[in-house]
Amino acid sequence: MSLPPGIDAAARDVAQSLSGGRSASGARIVTVQPLTGGTGASTGGLRLYRLDGGGAFIEKRTTSELEYTLARAQLVDTAAGLPRCPAMLRYLAAMPDPAGGYRLFMERLEEVGGNDSWLWGAEARLAEAAEAFSLAIAAMRRRHGLALRPAPDVLAMLGKALTGTKDATDAQLATLRSALAGYPLRPAHNDLFWPNIGQSQDAETLVFLDFALVGDNLPGAEFHHFAKGLTKSARHRAFFLALTLQAAERASIPAGIMRAGACVTAAARARTRETRRGRPEEGQRLARRFLGLAEDALQERSSTREL
Ligand SMILES: Nc1ncnc2c1ncn2[C@@H]1O[C@H](COP(=O)(O)OP(=O)(O)O)[C@@H](O)[C@H]1O
Ligand SMILES: [Mg+2]
Repeated sequence: MSLPPGIDAAARDVAQSLSGGRSASGARIVTVQPLTGGTGASTGGLRLYRLDGGGAFIEKRTTSELEYTLARAQLVDTAAGLPRCPAMLRYLAAMPDPAGGYRLFMERLEEVGGNDSWLWGAEARLAEAAEAFSLAIAAMRRRHGLALRPAPDVLAMLGKALTGTKDATDAQLATLRSALAGYPLRPAHNDLFWPNIGQSQDAETLVFLDFALVGDNLPGAEFHHFAKGLTKSARHRAFFLALTLQAAERASIPAGIMRAGACVTAAARARTRETRRGRPEEGQRLARRFLGLAEDALQERSSTREL
């Protein structure tokens, strides 16, 4: 049988599996359209397939081996009857692309955030989802022997970038390192912000997508995007403080440690990002600003002073 343009056997098989055996030929794909928004370095394009009867699913082409590995692990677990972590996007199929990279087919989340304010008020649900996600990745690692990304040594990165430009930096970094060293690295999503978060159908849980950066990290590091809110507005700042407080309680880690982990990661990333944009001085300025906020967070750990 010939297939309409843009629909190949792999996509048709996914559509068939989605009909749950209700019809022998499966649900029919009626349209395929490209999705805009994929900006990750490993993303080769996204497509939305719509089915007759109103269903839909998404295909992501990616060169991220990690994303493919996690998708495969989830599919194996589902086939074995294990429950899926509700904070993890559901994959429908995953395969190497003969043209290079991988093809990942997944459920379409009805609602993926469009701006910061979409998450306002959802601090507790986001902390809950992040904790569930971390535990689920840890369990998948044990079951499948996954090699996850090692934690980036953001303090060493900052040391290289900033030492020699200001006397205090070495001592600042050493203090942060020893404070954070008492807490284990944890698996984390590491790219949590509104374009990578959607809602389950019943809107009860937040669901994470885009797993290219999943790996071990410092406590709180996965909230580095939200740490940037400390310098944006009172509302953004309140969001970060509430989110890290909730996450700290769930993980039994002091909120100040979570915030420090988020701020040092934001510092290192700002430095890398601005340098890539040809603005190394701005990168240094931002890195210092976030290092200062990380120090404030640590102080707050031992007193009741607000960050
Ligand atoms: N399963 C999905 N359901 C709904 N929207 C999605 C889904 N997957 C991707 N998208 C949309 O496409 C965008 C890019 O996808 P993403 O996996 O985050 O790629 P990238 O690695 O390029 O950021 C997302 O921010 C979201 O808007
Ligand atoms: Mg993304």
